[in-house]
Amino acid sequence: MSAIDFKRLTSHCKEYGFIFQSSEIYDGLAAVYDYGPNGVELKKNIESYWWKSMVQMHDNIVGIDSAIFMHPKVWKASGHVDAFNDPLVDNKDSNRRYRADQLIEGYCEKIEAKITKDVTKAAKRFGDDFDEKQFRETNQRIIDRQAKIDDVLGRMNNFLKEENMEGLKALIEELEIACPESGSRNWTDVRQFNLMFSTQLGNIAGEEGKLYLRPETAQGIFTNFLNVQKTSRQKIPFGIAQIGKAFRNEIIARQFTFRMREFHQMEMQFFVRPGEDAKWYDYWKNTRLEWHKAIGSSAEKLRFHDHDNLAHYANAAVDIEFDFPFGFRELEGIHSRTDFDLSSHQELSGKKLQYFDPEINENYVPYVVETSIGLDRMILSQMANALCDETVPDAKGKESTRTVLKLHPSLAPNKCAILPLLKNHEGLVTMGKDVFNQFKTSFNTIYDEKDAIGRRYRRQDAIGTPFCLTIDHQSLEDQTVTLRNRDDLTQVRISIEEAKAKVNSNIEFPL
Ligand code: GAP
Repeated sequence: MSAIDFKRLTSHCKEYGFIFQSSEIYDGLAAVYDYGPNGVELKKNIESYWWKSMVQMHDNIVGIDSAIFMHPKVWKASGHVDAFNDPLVDNKDSNRRYRADQLIEGYCEKIEAKITKDVTKAAKRFGDDFDEKQFRETNQRIIDRQAKIDDVLGRMNNFLKEENMEGLKALIEELEIACPESGSRNWTDVRQFNLMFSTQLGNIAGEEGKLYLRPETAQGIFTNFLNVQKTSRQKIPFGIAQIGKAFRNEIIARQFTFRMREFHQMEMQFFVRPGEDAKWYDYWKNTRLEWHKAIGSSAEKLRFHDHDNLAHYANAAVDIEFDFPFGFRELEGIHSRTDFDLSSHQELSGKKLQYFDPEINENYVPYVVETSIGLDRMILSQMANALCDETVPDAKGKESTRTVLKLHPSLAPNKCAILPLLKNHEGLVTMGKDVFNQFKTSFNTIYDEKDAIGRRYRRQDAIGTPFCLTIDHQSLEDQTVTLRNRDDLTQVRISIEEAKAKVNSNIEFPL
């Protein structure tokens, strides 16, 4: 079984109706994407898996659906107006714009690649006796290179923390970083760039009518904290979950749906007693990692990464990173947000956002632990995790290669394909349509009578359909069908009812 590279992954997403570039007939709109017929089903299934895991499975978590537009003061209180910035720099020769921190990280990635090359060479040379840890700790060239990376990233992080734009520019110049496009080192000053999109409210001109498209869904949860707590009669600790669109004017749009300007977030704010935040932070960190593993992401492809630079609202933060085809990157964030948001809203709105805790007879502003995952990134990670090439025997027993999308059956866009052996045989077609009608009320079912059966199997493999049900001449005699399993390719002859029950029993979410 071999994994697929990123280019093939993106073309597979398009060719099989998962993801399209937005406005493609006008040459596309950068970092904005549409979901096709299979993509939208996968998206709904992931949403549903998240919602059920968070809301249905916890009697102390409830959901909301708040509006994208919010009062402009919300973004002042949350800190987004003042602090939701990326440091950007332009190259004067190519006129290309970059994130200063990403240029510096790119410089370090090149050194890291040299280290990896040395390690791979040594592993080959020493064979089974190779001890990577010892090699990294004793090889002087690696020690020097690692020290350089640590020094550069350390200084960069300090400049970011202090919002020292001159420092960032000086570092880019000191490292002699060149523009990947023009090759020149002719840089502008580094400036802070706010990532929020804005628009105007009704006919109110100027700053007064300025509205933002929310850059995170979380604030709709904070501003509704008391409404929800009172109407659902929840006691602390309890959570509020929400799935919705968020918008960010990302400077660098690349890596397909990894970094988008319009995307979906699935966020949950868990309100806790002050002092109990560290305990709940650990709880959610581990619970969320298990959620990813349960749906089939292999443990080696997941890792925690503690934040070096904490966001303005957090006292602890960790990313769950996934090994995308372009390396380990953030998939989900778990943030201990203290009482920052509720306290800021309380201060700016003048409305109390406190909870009376009957167990300790005290009023307080709760602390918050947040879990926040990008739905689109989750889709991309699942596609990357599931898509592979495999060598399998064909109908005549010869070796052939198939491309198969091994999604967890609960996430697959379609659960079963109904395939009458011949399309010109009235009996087979009638029975096929009849089975299709019986199945479609329970789960997404496809009816396909075109092409040879082998090609139809391959088509279903490529979109991740876990079961194919074939109707042949024996089916007309004894009402049995063959059910083919996508992953192990076994075929069993069973009754139609047994086939339906088998599909049904395999498509449950791993809750
Ligand atoms: N409320 C906290 C928050 O928004 P974040 O780390 O900025 O935290 C949370 O974003 C998640 O949203 C990320 O882990 C990522 O999965 C997703 N996300 C953020 N920016 C994104 C973008 N430009 N495109 C796609 N997904 C994005």
